[in-house]
Amino acid sequence: MMTTRIVGTGAYVPEQIATNDDLARIVETNDEWIRSRTGIGERRIATTETNSYMAAQAAKQALDQAGIAPEDVDLILLATSSPDYCFPNGACEIQEQIGAVNAAGYDISAACTGFVFALNTAHAFIQAGIYRTALVVGADVLSKLLDWTDRGTCVLFGDGAGAVVVQAADRGVIGVKMHSDGTKGGVLTCGSRTNGNFLLGKKPELGYMTMDGQEVFKFAVKKVPEIIKELLEENRTSLQEIRYFVLHQANYRIIESVAKRLKADISKFPANMERYGNTSGGSIPLLLDEMNRKGMLAPGDKIVLSGFGAGLTWGATLVEW
Ligand code: ACO
Repeated sequence: MMTTRIVGTGAYVPEQIATNDDLARIVETNDEWIRSRTGIGERRIATTETNSYMAAQAAKQALDQAGIAPEDVDLILLATSSPDYCFPNGACEIQEQIGAVNAAGYDISAACTGFVFALNTAHAFIQAGIYRTALVVGADVLSKLLDWTDRGTCVLFGDGAGAVVVQAADRGVIGVKMHSDGTKGGVLTCGSRTNGNFLLGKKPELGYMTMDGQEVFKFAVKKVPEIIKELLEENRTSLQEIRYFVLHQANYRIIESVAKRLKADISKFPANMERYGNTSGGSIPLLLDEMNRKGMLAPGDKIVLSGFGAGLTWGATLVEW
């Protein structure tokens, strides 16, 4: 049966590095606290780089690796919560920057789950025979949405982008799974511009990220193992068959806890948040590209991608490489 194969990967991170010590100069924190609670050592912070610039760089690399011309892309999906504009959407900006003149493009908003939701959406289009080639990008510049006086959130995030090119093929995505729980929306939020009322002289206000860290932690360590088990059961695949679990890079303690709950060896959970922090929509494709370029993935390897984040939302994809 026709499915969706990842045929190229790419990534981009801004040049500016902010270490934990750098952050300790602006909020009351320290390297030891951040590392021991999160596994994060440094992150990249965009200066001149825009969301669409990072996304387009990652997309170009993925197309180059796949040997696919931009004109052959049918669909561009950008997973982001921090686009450059309310409109045009970021996918249209990517289209313009890479010259994918024949593609339709739009953004998918599911925070740190966005990339998995976007990949699953591209798979649905390909499996239905509507499109053949899609570019799925995750990119976020959360540094512009953070409250840089709130040490509980500002130390956790970084900016970055990753991309994959997917194509109709006879092996690739084996199964997909997605969930949302809007009743828990309040535990991780970033307000949009409020309704100003210019007739009454009231200007719109901008929102910043707020998070109940412990609730997010509890949610992730419960729901991620659950969805992975559901996905594997539905697709008659055992945990032992999985070469790697490529999880959203929020926090190393979450990853350790998920591994423990699944009774899976921690060496199957690659991580790079030490260098990039939590790049939200960018984190899974950024890690996947790193693994791919290091030669960690061989044809036939089965991997699980799993994202979780605001919404609340969580999702997973079972892929044969
Ligand atoms: N530096 C130093 N101290 C801090 C910092 C900091 N950066 N941040 C909080 N503290 C303090 C708190 O003020 C508190 O002090 P108090 O006891 O005097 O009140 C103390 O540390 C403990 O605070 P907690 O919030 O209880 O710390 P906890 O051990 O829960 O760790 C953390 C906080 C790391 C945020 C944890 O809850 C966590 O990892 N949650 C998951 C968060 C996450 O990954 N979010 C993103 C996922 S979804 C997405 O990607 C969008």
